[in-house]
Amino acid sequence: SRGCKLIGSGSAIPALQISNDDLSKIVDTSDEWISVRTGIRNRRVLSAKESLTNLAAEAARKALEMAQVDADDVDMVLMCSSTPEDLFGSAPQIQKALGCKGNPLAYDITAACSGFVLGLVSAACHIRGGGFNNVLVIGADSLSRYVDWTDRGTCILFGDAAGAVLVQSCDAEEDGLFAFDLHSDGDGQRHLKASIKESKIDHAVGTNGSILDFPPKPISYSCIEMNGKEVFRFACRCVPQSIESALGKAGLDGSNIDWLLLHQANRRIIDAVATRLEMPQERVISNLANYGNTSAASIPLALDEAVRSGKVKSGDVIATAGFGAGLTWGSAIIRW
Ligand code: ACO
Repeated sequence: SRGCKLIGSGSAIPALQISNDDLSKIVDTSDEWISVRTGIRNRRVLSAKESLTNLAAEAARKALEMAQVDADDVDMVLMCSSTPEDLFGSAPQIQKALGCKGNPLAYDITAACSGFVLGLVSAACHIRGGGFNNVLVIGADSLSRYVDWTDRGTCILFGDAAGAVLVQSCDAEEDGLFAFDLHSDGDGQRHLKASIKESKIDHAVGTNGSILDFPPKPISYSCIEMNGKEVFRFACRCVPQSIESALGKAGLDGSNIDWLLLHQANRRIIDAVATRLEMPQERVISNLANYGNTSAASIPLALDEAVRSGKVKSGDVIATAGFGAGLTWGSAIIRW
């Protein structure tokens, strides 16, 4: 039987950096409040002229370089994003930008901050059961385009970025995805959403068949709305449970894990989960201070930095977990 392994990573960030002090000029906040409550100091923001699709392609290109895999040998591109530049999906545009000659299957996965973990597991399933060999998993988001920049409760949290990994088929003995655990809870959507603005008219067709509002007007999306306390509680409750469940399925415990790499949402969430799992600080990977919450990009971005700096070495075992809107959450135990 077939296994899969992670053999390359890459990331890309926009040029524009916005500090906490910069934010304190547009909303009533301070560097101290943001640092203490979240651990975030800076974030990157895409300019109107930049494209998230290009940023994602840049991250993917770097992952291919590290993996020493030719773009023509890629047979699947998974774009994990909740902020695509085309509602019909942007993965095929990334495939085009990379110049993949084999017309690999490319599609989008929408699962907010859990997107990358879901993409990774999807890649593994396609490889193990579907005969695919080289799958690019990209996490890229530009939540800055959906943030209400007058709402100090949310605008301080988010940043834009892209990260990618190349997952390749291998013999089952070399398999690098030991176990995973995935969940969602639509009931919790009310705590974190960026949904379409509601129409003032309930139905386009009246009860007697008369047309009330036709043709429909194009819809637009509301900015991100969040109940921070509820999201915080959800993450601290569900993430450790999910990691423990994945570890159990893999027949491992915390002592087998070299690194804890969580979705980078908030310093206090990362600390709470690490404490629950008895994971010492020096085994926790975090770059939240520099980038804020970059949604689906946060895990591959932090992984790529840790790999390129020499922190994460070949063979290291990583417990990773994503969590966020949907609500969705999930974890995976992987070997680099
Ligand atoms: N600067 C200064 N004051 C602020 C700010 C700010 N940026 N934001 C809120 N405040 C004020 C509030 O108005 C409130 O004032 P009041 O007491 O006078 O009413 C006070 O600070 C406390 O506000 P809370 O919202 O209760 O602050 P809390 O301690 O809950 O921290 C935070 C807020 C940081 C958002 C926290 O709840 C959190 O991190 N939650 C998790 C959010 C998260 O990670 N979301 C992303 C999930 S991933 C995804 O899928 C997108």
